[in-house]
Amino acid sequence: MRGVDVGVAAMPVLSVQDLKMYYLVERRGWVRAVDGVSFDLEKGEALGLVGESGCGKSSLGITILRILPFNAKIFGGKVVLEGKDILQMPEDKFRKEIRWKKISMVFQGAMNALNPVMRVGDQIAEAILLHEDVGRQEALERARNLLKLVGIDPSRANSYPHEFSGGMRQRAMIAMALACNPSVMIADEPTTALDVIVQAQILKLIKDIQRRLGISTILVTHDLSIVADLCDKVAVMYAGKIVELGPAEKIYYRPLHPYTAKLLGAVPSVKGKRRRLEFIPGAPPDLLYPPPGCRFHPRCPYAEEICKKEEPPMKEVNGVKVACHRVEELWNL
Ligand SMILES: Nc1ncnc2c1ncn2[C@@H]1O[C@H](COP(=O)(O)OP(=O)(O)O)[C@@H](O)[C@H]1O
Ligand SMILES: [Mg+2]
Repeated sequence: MRGVDVGVAAMPVLSVQDLKMYYLVERRGWVRAVDGVSFDLEKGEALGLVGESGCGKSSLGITILRILPFNAKIFGGKVVLEGKDILQMPEDKFRKEIRWKKISMVFQGAMNALNPVMRVGDQIAEAILLHEDVGRQEALERARNLLKLVGIDPSRANSYPHEFSGGMRQRAMIAMALACNPSVMIADEPTTALDVIVQAQILKLIKDIQRRLGISTILVTHDLSIVADLCDKVAVMYAGKIVELGPAEKIYYRPLHPYTAKLLGAVPSVKGKRRRLEFIPGAPPDLLYPPPGCRFHPRCPYAEEICKKEEPPMKEVNGVKVACHRVEELWNL
């Protein structure tokens, strides 16, 4: 099993430890978007990061890549890439050595970020030239190879973005993210703006690339069933925190946190009684004023006094990490 410490286990490619990033909102205070997040990403591993909108998934991505808006502040933690803490690295070094080169990101709706007046091949070549000491011809050749890799005929390098379909533009953005052979690629809801068939094609492409090139991937989505199919490991995020983390198939077939269970429409049987809960009533909390105790407690049908008062610690249950006071009791473990 991957991702489990076996004594002499190889170092993870990326290790995020107790990471905290808040946004300052004038006169109101801090939005605790990333509030003590920890996980490891092994070489070649695909991690699915799931949770409803507003849970802090994109905030986690931009904190790792350090592309934060002016009102964001990192409050602590570590981001260790290949053994080095890159959170403390000076910005110019980070820009030269890490961002796009070691860690890249494909954004939600990224296909609209291509420069409309520049040929697609030139844009990819540009990304290479910016980070690597290679000639223009070599960069263009690599751009054509990258297009081929993402399933676009290399001759289309001479096309302009408007001559591409939405799916092709998103493929080009993936090629751009791969331009400098990164160790880690973060794909933040890379298919949301596309139609269902194209979505499936792009997801398959991401999976193929991750397998073929051995790139460690973080796939952000709100759809847990996509992740079960595509990823090795799943991290479920709720209100700025990871509430469940473990092998994808375990979490998909046997979710432990009530939030994960409800994302999947699964129903714990409390003391033999079955309850039907197909949807999650309410919405994620305002992260300016997160609820005390377990942040999910106001929406959790199983919440008790302790859930309202004490933050649940991460515990390991059957090879899965889960932050729920009542997990053993809920599932008769
Ligand atoms: N620039 C910002 N200033 C203040 N709050 C923000 C900013 N960006 C995002 N947020 C808030 O941070 C929280 C997490 O947002 P986000 O990371 O986008 O979640 P997700 O990607 O899971 O939908 C939300 O409450 C959102 O409103
Ligand atoms: Mg997002």
